[in-house]
Amino acid sequence: MAGTDETMQAVGFHEHGPIENFELLDVPVPEVDAGEVLVEVRAASLNHQDLFAIRELDHYVPEYPFWGGGDFAGVIDAVGESVEGWSVGDRVAIDPTITCGECRFCEAGEQSMCDEYAVFGEHRKGGFAEYAAVPAGSLVAVPDGVAFETAAAAPMVTGTAFRALLTRADLEPYEDLLVVGATGGVGHMAVQLATEVIGVDTLYGTTSTEEKADFLRELGVDHVIDYTEEDFASRVWDLTGGDGVDAVYNTVGGETWVPSMRTLRPGGRLVTSGATAGPNPETEIRLVFVRQLDVMGSTAHSSTDLRHALGYVWDGTVEPVIQETFSLAEYDAAFRTMADREAYGKLVFTLD
Ligand SMILES: NC(=O)c1ccc[n+]([C@@H]2O[C@H](COP(=O)([O-])OP(=O)(O)OC[C@H]3O[C@@H](n4cnc5c(N)ncnc54)[C@H](OP(=O)(O)O)[C@@H]3O)[C@@H](O)[C@H]2O)c1
Ligand SMILES: [Zn+2]
Repeated sequence: MAGTDETMQAVGFHEHGPIENFELLDVPVPEVDAGEVLVEVRAASLNHQDLFAIRELDHYVPEYPFWGGGDFAGVIDAVGESVEGWSVGDRVAIDPTITCGECRFCEAGEQSMCDEYAVFGEHRKGGFAEYAAVPAGSLVAVPDGVAFETAAAAPMVTGTAFRALLTRADLEPYEDLLVVGATGGVGHMAVQLATEVIGVDTLYGTTSTEEKADFLRELGVDHVIDYTEEDFASRVWDLTGGDGVDAVYNTVGGETWVPSMRTLRPGGRLVTSGATAGPNPETEIRLVFVRQLDVMGSTAHSSTDLRHALGYVWDGTVEPVIQETFSLAEYDAAFRTMADREAYGKLVFTLD
């Protein structure tokens, strides 16, 4: 067991700003409060939130140095007071969200609307470290046979895509879907949920390079559109014979917002859970009312969403694609790959 006077490596920062501010830290192993366990981290995946966290989320960070990592998996190294049902040696992943369990939303099973909603890696230090202290309520058991890399790559992106497509947009098998941002962590799990779980009729996806277009074709996207080469709204309109799609899942925002609306049939649904390219795009209100569109937001997952989503990962129905793994010491290459948009699927830190 790691003692509290021991130190560990973590990848974090002392100051907000560009990703060059990331550094390899030598910090104390976290203390374990009552109700928490100490997890020896074996794998931790990158999410776009880790870039937002260093670049702009200074109002969330409780103390410096701060290290992110909302998705991680490993082995329980120590169990704090009053923790029941978990033992040293258990293989675990993390529910990246932290909720109060008591407010009206938590009581209604809508944990991602919690009054005190918080996320590992934004409001609380995460798993870009050798050890992490985790409240027992945030632990998820990882079945034997599931690799730590997979367990660390899955929760945030699969839970988010599951909620957006199944719980919020209520997508049906006979419907057509466009995923904008389909190569990203969330996007590529949305593609797999759409094809393997929902079984949508025709699936459209956007990307920005030929290499990533190949990745999407192999993943099962019927029509891949490179939006750097052509206007994706016109293309989808043509491909659907002027009918439009039933739903668009947009994880990008920015300049993709209005074109996403233009691809929808009358009565279509536009669901968003991210604004990677900008949160304040122009909009087109006439499209919303003339086509009678439903614009809906979705954030993370409820406990039920996550349980179902991870069930599909554990049984192999869907699988996060791990493009590349890095040691903690290779943090610069890892964050640069994501920031330069060279990534598809997931990037993962692995620890021995
Ligand atoms: N609401 C929630 O609970 C929640 C949960 C998870 C994630 N998110 C948000 O969802 C978004 C996606 O997260 P992620 O972790 O899946 O990100 P990611 O893996 O970095 O993927 C983002 C994808 O968006 C596309 N993209 C288009 N325009 C972009 C631009 N200007 N800058 C960067 N990427 C651009 C890129 O693909 P192409 O180059 O192929 O277009 C990229 O692969 C982020 O904004 C994240 O904060 C929200
Ligand atoms: Zn709550």
